[in-house]
Parts: sequence; structure tokens; C-alpha cells
Amino acid sequence: MTSRIRVAASAAVAAALLAGWLGAASPALAGDAPRVVGHVGATPRLAAIVPAARPLVAPPPEQVALGRRLFLDTRLSRPAGTSCASCHDPAQAFSAFNGGRDGVAGGSVRARLGTRNPPSLTYLRYLPPLYFYQDDDAPAPAPFGGLMLDGRVDTLAAQAREPLLARHEMNLRSPRAAARRLREAGYERDFERLFGPGVLRDPKRALEAFGLGLQAYLQSDELAPFDSRFDEFLRGRAALSPREQRGLAIFRHPDQGNCASCHSVSATSSQPARSLFTDFGYEALGVPRNRALPANASAGAHDLGLCRTARARHWPEADAWCGYFRTPSLRNVAVRQRFMHNGVFTSLRQAVRFYATRSTDPGAWYGAHPVFDDLPEALRGNVNTVSTPLNRRPGATPALDEDDIDALVAFLGTLTDRRYAAPATAARPVP
Ligand code: HEC
Ligand code: HEC
Repeated sequence: MTSRIRVAASAAVAAALLAGWLGAASPALAGDAPRVVGHVGATPRLAAIVPAARPLVAPPPEQVALGRRLFLDTRLSRPAGTSCASCHDPAQAFSAFNGGRDGVAGGSVRARLGTRNPPSLTYLRYLPPLYFYQDDDAPAPAPFGGLMLDGRVDTLAAQAREPLLARHEMNLRSPRAAARRLREAGYERDFERLFGPGVLRDPKRALEAFGLGLQAYLQSDELAPFDSRFDEFLRGRAALSPREQRGLAIFRHPDQGNCASCHSVSATSSQPARSLFTDFGYEALGVPRNRALPANASAGAHDLGLCRTARARHWPEADAWCGYFRTPSLRNVAVRQRFMHNGVFTSLRQAVRFYATRSTDPGAWYGAHPVFDDLPEALRGNVNTVSTPLNRRPGATPALDEDDIDALVAFLGTLTDRRYAAPATAARPVP
């Protein structure tokens, strides 16, 4: 992690406020909550890193069942036909494109394309709300966690309303229209049973209940089965091939792939939940601009990532976070069709190769454009040029050769959950 901001004056925080933040932020998480020691802008700073494998309280099964129905229901959008699953298909590791193209999804109004590659929702229940933490040897605190690739939403329950109301997603006009849709789709009885009388008559309560249902589903074991070959390997019940093992070694080695410095994997634990392949941190990798995206038609348009959130939350030196996106888990990455926040890469091998040669052969990635061309010139200095393997000079030998890249890709294939491991899932056209 590199972080370049100073801490804002941090004051002691009232215990009630603390409990409120932690409680509201992660209702399904139990165990020792890390202590808030201050704030960076309007974002809490914690005394310790939030451990990935915090104990989880299983969500209520009735809410899970309701959430699953809502997730798959194509009647809720305007016009009807788009559900959460249209962009987060359970058969494709909870990601899909709903008839979109070039790496972004289409909305219920098909001509309205989104601006980001729909992320996989598997294993998302471990993601903590946005917070800052400062490592002993780090010069400044760095952000972790938060939903959406720029961390702008704190809880799954709060997240669910965004796609429902977004013009380029499910396109309902207002909370009131959303509540009406839910009533028309016949949910009133079930919502009243779980969330109290009159819940779908009050738009605010209706959206809260909608969010709680979806949150319960997204926290259920269906999205976190831990049954990939890698998990079986961790449990000592399966072996990796020599090539896959070599890939794992490169993935971990600080002088080779160095991938695990951001996509964390436990060196010691046989518990799969300790190896989520993300530290929930943020990085600016400088992925090439996806020039096919309608959102990029104007040369002045940029997806600035985390600094949008930083500005909204009044972090000091917010622009230092432009170009940063949250490190995704790599579980089920081999099932995905497009890679990186802007969907610019069309194969896993291409995404891995980017790390190998971004710094040594920039022309292969940016062509005639300047390096880090997806950011305005003044912000290109934010991009990480210090971490291995991104830290070499143009013309130098890459840290990873073609055989290393193949081994990494083979290893990443072991992170695929059993339900997606059938060869049929590999042969879909790239959107
Ligand atoms: C039109 C496509 C589309 C639809 C429909 C859609 N999503 Fe998404 N979803 C996305 C995209 C794109 C992102 C990334 C957005 C961002 O980072 O700004 C996303 C992000 C998310 C995230 C955050 C993931 C993360 O890693 O932080 C969750 C959770 C989520 N969606 C759940 C839902 C739910 C629940 C629904 C239905 C109520 C839904 N989505 C409907 C496209 C869609
Ligand atoms: C310095 C932190 C860091 C290191 C080191 C790192 N990654 Fe990443 N990785 C990220 C971030 C951040 C993203 C998302 C970037 C974006 O969307 O713009 C990402 C995205 C990816 C993706 C695309 C995932 C998707 O769903 O779109 C793959 C594949 C990947 N990394 C593999 C690797 C491999 C293999 C290595 C080692 C060679 C590696 N990463 C090293 C931070 C890192």
C-alpha cells in the first residue's frame, strides 16, 4: 500500500457514536470490533486492521429466501426485464452484462450503458465498511473496505437501492415508485411478515427492507461456498499440479509476482476465509483507457475512482486518491469475461500480462497515447510505479516471463468455485 495523505486532526470519538458506526455498518458481523481512534475527513480511522475472517452471524433464512426472490425478479425494473441477476448472474459468479458491450452492462433501457465492469459479488460478505488504518511502517493512514469500486457505500443493505433507482440500471424514478413496484409484484404480505405492518406503504421503510432482504441473500453461504480446488488444497484434500504450484509461488513471491501484497493469501492458515485474495485496500494501477466506452467519448471525461468518495467525505488532499480503485478478490476471476474497473481487458491472461510488462513495454498497453492515459495528466503521478512488478524501467527485462504468466493464469483457475468449474462456462462470447 502506498498512501500519500496526511491525517486530519483526529479527535476522540464518543463511545455511542462508535458503537453506532460499527453496529450499523456490519449487522452480520460479531466478535471484537476494532477501536476507532480518529477520523480522516469524515471517515473513521481504526486502531487495527479489520480481520478478513471475522466471525459471521448467519443471516435469517427467511430474509435470505426473500432476498433471493428479489435478486432474480425481473419485474422490478422500468421497463420490466432487468433484475440484479441480469448484471450479477449466479451462473457466472454473480457478474454479467445484460446485453451491454465493450466491458460495461446495459440497463433496463438497453441503450443506457453503465460506466463500470459489473464486479463479481461472491465472497463480498467479508468486505468491511470504509475505514482508515495506518501500518507501523506506513507514512500515513490508508483506506480499506467500502462497497462499490470507489468505496462510496458502507453496507450491502444501503447498496441495494442504488441499482434500483439508477437511470442506467433498473431505472425506477423514486423511492415511492420503488415501493409501488414491490407492492404490484405481490411482495406486500411477505414484507409485512418480516418487516412489520405498512412497510411497503412507506417508501423509506420499503427501501430499507428491500436492502435488508438483499443483504441477507448476499451474505448467505450460496455466495461463499469455499469449495474451489484451492480451498480443497488448503484443507489438505486436493493437490495442485506442478504448474499451478509454481503459479502460487510466483503469486506470493515479493520479487516475482508480488500479487499477494494486495490480493492477500494466508501463508499459514488452512481456513479458506483467511485467503480472500484481497486486502480490501485501494491502488492506482493505471489501466489503459477503454476507448470503446460511450462514457469516454469525450476526452475530458474520466472515471476518477476513490477520489470522488474522498471529496464527498472531505478527506484532506482528496485528489491524491484519484485513479485508485478497490483491489478485487480474485476468487472466481477465471469465470469473468472482462477485467478491471473499466472492462478494458478481454482475457485473464491479458490482465496478468499487464502487470508483467506495463512498466517495461508501455507502448504495448498505451500505444501512441501517453502512459496512464485514463487519468487527466495532472493526476498521473498517483499511479503506483513502486511496487514489484510495476516498478521497472522501459526496456528492462520484465519481472515475469511468458511461462510465469501461464503459471499464474493456471493457478488463478484453481480459485473457481465448484459450481463454475464445468468446462462449458469457459466458452461464452466476450461482450
Ligand atoms: C445494469 C447492471 C446492474 C444491475 C441491474 C445491478 N448491478 Fe450491481 N453493480 C453493477 C456495477 C457496474 C457495479 C459496480 C459499480 C461501481 O463501482 O460504481 C455494481 C456493484 C454492485 C455491488 C458492489 C460490489 C462491490 O464489490 O463493491 C453490489 C453489492 C451490487 N452491485 C448488488 C446489486 C444488487 C443487489 C442489484 C439489484 C437490486 C444490482 N446490483 C443490480 C451493475 C449492476
Ligand atoms: C499494488 C496492489 C496490487 C498488486 C501488487 C496486484 N494487484 Fe491485481 N489488482 C489490484 C487492483 C487495485 C485491481 C483493480 C484495478 C482496477 O479495476 O482498475 C486489481 C485487479 C486485478 C485483476 C482483475 C480482476 C477483475 O475482476 O477485474 C486481476 C486478474 C489481477 N488483479 C491479478 C493480479 C496478479 C496476477 C498480480 C500479480 C502479478 C496482481 N494482481 C498484483 C491491485 C494489485
